[in-house]
Amino acid sequence: MSLKQGGYIPRDRGWQPDAFTPPYKTSVKRSPQAALLSMPTTLGEETGPVFGHDIIGAMDNDLIHNFAADGQSAIGPRIIVHGVVKDESGRPVPGALIEVWQANAGGRYRHKKEGYLGALDPNFGGCGRAITDETGHYEFRSIQPGPYPWPNGLNDWRPAHIHFSIFGLGFAQRLITQMYFEGDPHIPLCPIVGVLKSQEAFDALTAPLDMNRTVPMDARAFKFDITLRGRRQTYFENRPEGL
Ligand SMILES: [Fe+2]
Repeated sequence: MSLKQGGYIPRDRGWQPDAFTPPYKTSVKRSPQAALLSMPTTLGEETGPVFGHDIIGAMDNDLIHNFAADGQSAIGPRIIVHGVVKDESGRPVPGALIEVWQANAGGRYRHKKEGYLGALDPNFGGCGRAITDETGHYEFRSIQPGPYPWPNGLNDWRPAHIHFSIFGLGFAQRLITQMYFEGDPHIPLCPIVGVLKSQEAFDALTAPLDMNRTVPMDARAFKFDITLRGRRQTYFENRPEGL
């Protein structure tokens, strides 16, 4: 069977946000000026290595402590974020690299171009990584980020959010997205969230509180499941995909 038959399912542009969305001001300059051309994925995008598997450090999935001085921890509501990474066919994606970055509890990023007056937390860096296990599950600990203002309209605030980058089994599965927190009143007001076209898409990016995974007297939990592009080939359990 050729690899081409096992190629990735094309992205559904009807489901994805439009690139040109004027209420999100920078999309006007960033969006393509000509019609998109769709090309088949290359062999390298489907089968090439996406990252090394031995790069995760012991503290990488603990943002409460991975930047903190010895014996200290980041300030803010302690949370666990976890979920399952699957492809479009519902198959778990083991060995996927999850990279996250976020503002601190006061809505301030540790970045040289950050312009918000919110205070830095000396014990919080705002970056972390995790790898999915055999069942596609990932988990990391952090503090709940705060909302922050941004120069878009006259008075726009981002809801509390965590940025995600996910490397799956092939580069064609790469996904960059944001996770929001259930119940945040800023979500429906945000021009970036507003580029989504359906309630289903809106819900898919909003992590519900997960009391089952909450650790008493320690951290609340939020569940964020992620779907990557799938392959066309039918999966057979007795052999790896693509062969
Ligand atoms: Fe952000």
